Amino acid sequence: MQYEVVLPAAGSGKRMGAGQNKLFLQLNEKPILIHTLEVFQSDEDCTGIWLAVKPEEREYIQGLLERYHITKVKGLPNGGQERQHSVQSCMKAMQQVEIVLVHDAARPFITKPIISRLVGAAQEKGAAIAGVRAKDTMKKVRDGVIVETVDRESLWMIQTPQAFRFKLLQQAENHAEEQGFLGTDEAMLVERLGHQVHIVESTYENVKMTTKEDLIFGEAILRQRNN
Ligand code: C5P
Repeated sequence: MQYEVVLPAAGSGKRMGAGQNKLFLQLNEKPILIHTLEVFQSDEDCTGIWLAVKPEEREYIQGLLERYHITKVKGLPNGGQERQHSVQSCMKAMQQVEIVLVHDAARPFITKPIISRLVGAAQEKGAAIAGVRAKDTMKKVRDGVIVETVDRESLWMIQTPQAFRFKLLQQAENHAEEQGFLGTDEAMLVERLGHQVHIVESTYENVKMTTKEDLIFGEAILRQRNN
């Protein structure tokens, strides 16, 4: 089943504290952004990649695409203030397709089997997102004090990719825009329409490169994969 993917890549990476877009940092001598792009470049079901970028980084990214032979990128629209705006900017630039995936450019370890399961589930049910079960005991805290221990059995940590029928995500984004609602993922926007969103169990390897420690995990994952 074919799909196109939206990769928001226009963040500032403040929590990484690298003084530059964290996606340009190297893992095993290759930029994080390229690791992520290569997964989709080599997936024959992926028919197009849309990359939301900062205007001042567009030229540099275009140079990387050439250097690493990433040929599936169909457009590099301007990203926005928040991640949701960056995704929306790509959706507005795209032609309608049946299935669209949204994937953080900062998650380079996503694998083809998980992508395929998400695309299949989105085709059948409309919306499906990757997640893993919470490992730790989870508590709600207010002003430094526990207010509730939450039942862990029902808690999942949500990742990307998030896969949707294109029209459903478009409708959800328009609805959120009208209402001035800002979510931390696309599933929230679809949930607000009252549409069910399904979970596809992913792996703990699919980490987002967010802080410095994540780079150490990242190097370790690559080492193990290359063995
Ligand atoms: O900051 P965080 O790691 O949660 O961002 C997730 C992804 O969204 C990253 O790939 C980042 O580049 C992207 N992003 C974006 N536009 C923003 C903020 C984040 O494209 N305004």
